[in-house]
Amino acid sequence: MSEAFQIPEGNFRGHDQQHVWQAEPDPELTEVGPGTPCGEYLRRYWMPVAMTDQVGDLPYRIRVLGEDLVLFREKGGTLGLVHLHCAHRNMSLEFGIIEEGGIRCSYHGWKYATDGTVMETPCEPPASQVKAKACLGAYPVIEYKGLAFAYLGPKDTMPPFPVFDTFDEEGDEMIPYLIKSPCNWLQVMENAWDPFHVVYLHTLAVRSQFIDAFAELPMIEFFERPFGDFYTNTRRVGDIIWLRIHDKLLPSFTQNGGHFPLPETSRYFGRCGLSRWVTPIDDTHTMVIAWRHFREGDDPRGLTDKSLVGYGTTDFYGQGPDRSYEQRQRDPGDYDAWVSQGPKNVHARENLCFTDRGVAKVRRKLRAAIRAVGDGQDAPQPALTYEGIIPTYGGDTMLRIPPQPGRDDGAILKEVAHKVAEIYMAADDLKGQVRVDRIRDDLKTYEASWA
Ligand code: FES
Ligand SMILES: [Fe+2]
Repeated sequence: MSEAFQIPEGNFRGHDQQHVWQAEPDPELTEVGPGTPCGEYLRRYWMPVAMTDQVGDLPYRIRVLGEDLVLFREKGGTLGLVHLHCAHRNMSLEFGIIEEGGIRCSYHGWKYATDGTVMETPCEPPASQVKAKACLGAYPVIEYKGLAFAYLGPKDTMPPFPVFDTFDEEGDEMIPYLIKSPCNWLQVMENAWDPFHVVYLHTLAVRSQFIDAFAELPMIEFFERPFGDFYTNTRRVGDIIWLRIHDKLLPSFTQNGGHFPLPETSRYFGRCGLSRWVTPIDDTHTMVIAWRHFREGDDPRGLTDKSLVGYGTTDFYGQGPDRSYEQRQRDPGDYDAWVSQGPKNVHARENLCFTDRGVAKVRRKLRAAIRAVGDGQDAPQPALTYEGIIPTYGGDTMLRIPPQPGRDDGAILKEVAHKVAEIYMAADDLKGQVRVDRIRDDLKTYEASWA
């Protein structure tokens, strides 16, 4: 028989494994519409829903948590967020007329205030009571640094807006961006709890999409705070121990280390490259909404580009569909990872292992939080756990601590990670520059203790 017809030998279990494709997504963690357990949990938080530069002099139609809505700026300048369909006979308010104090439906002229109150019903007789009886669903909106944040939950559980220490630092230019992905929110959120994809997808798979030092496997340690978690990615780079620290606050807030740090030189409490939320559009569409931070000294190699940050785009690789299919195949990025998991990733088809403990942890925590809200408990709120501006940790610290003769370097990395985390957390009760200075001084003293 010719070579061409030789039957390949091997495991070949395609037919046995077909059953995995019958598995279903996990509705408890992935369904976000009104009345779903996860949807009700997510509705206990302020979340960004739009970039305000997209809201012009016309109503701006958006979809959040499976709800069709209209965001508009009434002529006095206040943003309103209301249900899409007019409370009279359901014409879409995307065709509404924006006026002083509210929005008017163009079908029969009902006018709504930003809180959904019916202000006028011009076609009705003067004695009509319909104005007092009807109302349009509306949600409160806070506008801050180019983003519109909304609260879509019950009025009596509305938390204070959480203000983190990174929201108003001197010398920090914050530029918003928003990028949509056609997949469930959880796979976008979980990507931030998966530090090992940085080693492979962003560095070893094809090329360094960020910096070469990401090729080293990090040592990961998790730290829990009452107002949110963080984890340390610790690597040795010559005589330097580099700690890249990520804030991870449920349901979806992330602050990473710097985007293009220089791990070869000492740095003390460098701050995050972005502050980012993952906002579900519906069960199979998601928005990443974030600020990129630009501070002097954050980008010693000159790899950032402010002009690329905005609606549908940002200045680091692979966050959206802005590449040809061939380029995405040859050099895939985060977007290609989370979108290609499917419209809704099916956990029953996965094989989670050691490097997935962040993913496993966030799923456990999320499930517990969803169930707690379902049982009538409060969702944990950073702004109620900590009074005032909430301290965060995201960013990079590089300490000159050379390998120590006779000591296991892995043990040193672990010891340093815990000590640095302790130094950060010990300053939680200090504010502003006083806190920053204390952390930096303590890091320098600690570094010197290894000299
Ligand atoms: S449908 Fe809007 S005013 Fe009649
Ligand atoms: Fe990534």
